[in-house]
Amino acid sequence: MKAVVVTEFGAQPELVDLPTPEPGPGEILVRIHAAGVNPFDWKVTDGALKDSVQHAFPLVMGSDGAGVVEKTGPGVTRFRPGDRVYGQFMRLPQGQGSYAEYTLAEQDGKIALIPDTLSYTLAAALPTAGVTAYQAVQAAHLEHGHTLLINGASGGVGQSAIQFAARFGARVLATGTPDLADHLRELGAHTVIDFTQAPTHEQVTAAHPEGIDAVIDLVTPTAGDIDPIAGLLRTGGTLLSTNHATDPDTLAIRGVRGINLANNPTAETLTTLAELAAIGELRVRIDTEVPLADAPATIAKTRAGHATGKTVVIPLWEAAKTNRLDATGIR
Ligand SMILES: NC(=O)c1ccc[n+]([C@@H]2O[C@H](COP(=O)([O-])OP(=O)(O)OC[C@H]3O[C@@H](n4cnc5c(N)ncnc54)[C@H](OP(=O)(O)O)[C@@H]3O)[C@@H](O)[C@H]2O)c1
Repeated sequence: MKAVVVTEFGAQPELVDLPTPEPGPGEILVRIHAAGVNPFDWKVTDGALKDSVQHAFPLVMGSDGAGVVEKTGPGVTRFRPGDRVYGQFMRLPQGQGSYAEYTLAEQDGKIALIPDTLSYTLAAALPTAGVTAYQAVQAAHLEHGHTLLINGASGGVGQSAIQFAARFGARVLATGTPDLADHLRELGAHTVIDFTQAPTHEQVTAAHPEGIDAVIDLVTPTAGDIDPIAGLLRTGGTLLSTNHATDPDTLAIRGVRGINLANNPTAETLTTLAELAAIGELRVRIDTEVPLADAPATIAKTRAGHATGKTVVIPLWEAAKTNRLDATGIR
């Protein structure tokens, strides 16, 4: 099978031939039709988890994927060949990931069935960004009328978070460049803050000198940099970071709740998100779909930033064409 791998931490991704894996006890072999691209994919191959998790090389890149169960191993009862499934497929100790024609998953892993009406492309775009957004908004304890800043709202996680927060009745302040402003408003943003014109915290302070209720920060890399954003919160507010940039103990001193979120895609959450996407209640904008052979170049481009939606890699390009964005039309 074809797969995109790195041979060591920090190496350039390359397209190679690997043996198609065989499912062991409790495992399923999935023929991948689409793989979703996330910043986490290259953070991992850069070595973000090298001190905490064992990695096998060559390491197939990617976590998110959608495809069809090709074969089941002994003892598998939850899935059968022909089932359409999606979820997170990264298994670092085994060197397995989703940027491949085939991958393995544990039947009790982070996977769920895809509704008939949801395309592989949209399903592959959901797991990491959708689950993170869903769990971030739940953890923010929003109430109707609360004001929430989503810092980094224009990317994959942010666009889903806008939709979930708006459903809670929150007033969403979303960062984004003017070219995306209409799109972010359509998703549910009340105000779009052009972070390229002036620092976001200055613009929010000017409009909300009394303080806001919550921040979901998808941008700030370290706790040392987050003070201006943290300073926007009223007492009793919540600051949630997806980059481990909050220091809950320091924030607690002034009555602000700090949360460092690590997404946890259960089968139940994945099923909920897929159903919402299938009926158009969760919209996912696809920036680009590229064949697996172009993935190394696409990763280089995508990691430079400027995401305006999700990038999806299509391993079985011709076969997958019939499933591209056809069923729901959501973009
Ligand atoms: N902890 C977890 O479980 C978890 C899960 C998912 C994601 N994450 C992390 O969360 C972050 C967001 O993920 P993602 O998938 O949404 O990434 P993404 O799709 O690359 O989106 C990031 C967005 O932030 C925008 N941005 C960059 N600098 C900004 C700034 N100073 N102010 C406002 N917006 C800015 C980017 O626009 P421009 O590039 O045009 O500036 C881009 O649209 C990443 O760091 C990712 O690793 C963590």
